[in-house]
Amino acid sequence: QATQARLAVSLDEPSPRIEPTVYGHFVEHLGRGVYDGLWVGPESSIPNTRGWRNDVVQALRRVGIPVMRWPGGCFADDYDWRDGIGDPAKRPARRNIWWGGLETNRVGTHEFMDLVEQLDSEAYLSGNMGSMPPRAMAQWIEYITAGENSALTQERRRNGRDKPWKLKYFGVGNESFGCGGSMRPEYQSDLHNQYATFLKGVTRVASGDGEGDDHRVEVLMSRSARHMDAFTLHYYSLPDNWTRHGDATGFDAGAWARTLKSALGMDGRIEAIKRIMDKHDPDKRVALYVDEWGTWYDTPPGASALFQQNTLRDAVLAAVSFNIFHRHTDRVKMANIAQMVNVLQSMVLTEGDKMVLTPTYHAFDLYKPFRGATPLAIKLDAPVFRTGDVELPAVHASAARAPDGKLLLALVNLDPSHPARVATNLTGSARGRVLTAQSMDAHNTFQQPQAVAPAPYAAASSGLLDLPPKSVVVVEIVPR
Ligand code: AHR
Repeated sequence: QATQARLAVSLDEPSPRIEPTVYGHFVEHLGRGVYDGLWVGPESSIPNTRGWRNDVVQALRRVGIPVMRWPGGCFADDYDWRDGIGDPAKRPARRNIWWGGLETNRVGTHEFMDLVEQLDSEAYLSGNMGSMPPRAMAQWIEYITAGENSALTQERRRNGRDKPWKLKYFGVGNESFGCGGSMRPEYQSDLHNQYATFLKGVTRVASGDGEGDDHRVEVLMSRSARHMDAFTLHYYSLPDNWTRHGDATGFDAGAWARTLKSALGMDGRIEAIKRIMDKHDPDKRVALYVDEWGTWYDTPPGASALFQQNTLRDAVLAAVSFNIFHRHTDRVKMANIAQMVNVLQSMVLTEGDKMVLTPTYHAFDLYKPFRGATPLAIKLDAPVFRTGDVELPAVHASAARAPDGKLLLALVNLDPSHPARVATNLTGSARGRVLTAQSMDAHNTFQQPQAVAPAPYAAASSGLLDLPPKSVVVVEIVPR
């Protein structure tokens, strides 16, 4: 028995465009996220370009990486950028205090900026406000961007880079409420203003909320809005709690529902932050960047730090998250999934020379036409379904007008057991792609890399669209 839903799209109620950077990424020196997953070194037998593995770079280029945040995360507030420049053989090894192991600093500024260029991406660097002085932050920016013949430009040249790099986004600390320095919001706000004063020519991103703390948002917006161009939200989704997160695979319908419920809660959190931002910045000059989001499950024994498998549940959660970002384009101008490779909700998993694309990768790929599109208002009447004491809407959606005029529709069936039929007010046919699988925890392995992969989707009439259970459908409406 199919669930019946109704969707009305208002073709004449556009919102600000969906910035491509909403489909952004985050790469931290953590586990096998950088070393092994992306970087194998120029001397590796794994094919690479100046150390960055070709298979992963090609896969990421195919999906398009509009922006990459680096080097943390928590790592950022214990990172001295000077450790990562100059002769690699002379770079100091340091303890990675947050994620364990030794940081060799083999990947530093030159290597990361090379990756940014290989991916045609934008760099978003996280500066260290937690344990380094403001001058260190300002000089990092000068080292990267200066064209004049300053001492730092000369040093950069000696280290092999003549032309300045393009650096657009710069984070003033990370999670200052926690691993970034355990600061009271009042103290953070003073410090933010001090550091931001010395940052020139970049979009200044203030470390924001990650704990559902309205007071921090209030204090930072009231005291620091003038010194920032963006404010951040970190929002992770997990089935259980921060002591026992829950398993990435082998979970039941209850865990499926709780994880998606947690993800849907991001909508309310963004609403709440926007209300406070609107009070202090009614012209909406300051953007909201959700610069860490995604699922966080328990790491299996013996796996590298924060490694987790990625299933159909993650793809459905990614789709719901994109729909939420599309609803808030007045403020949400960037979002960065945590993290790109081998860490948390990854796009790609690797083992030695093997690589596999995850269901989350395919969700990003399905939604690619939405980059730069103009969201359209929708009214969705979808019944709820219940799993234990968790209620979820059966269907979640978003609609937009692409820059080339195409009408785009994304529909997600959150119900793992029932198909859904969506009656719409649209005319014409629909064609696009669907992502689904037999089981809730279907995932891709090196042996079965196509277990979860997009398939073509077509409907003769866009007035009636059928969604398989637990699926993501993205279509273009083709006029008659
Ligand atoms: O993404 C993993 C960690 O989660 C980041 O380092 C930190 O910012 C957040 O708590």
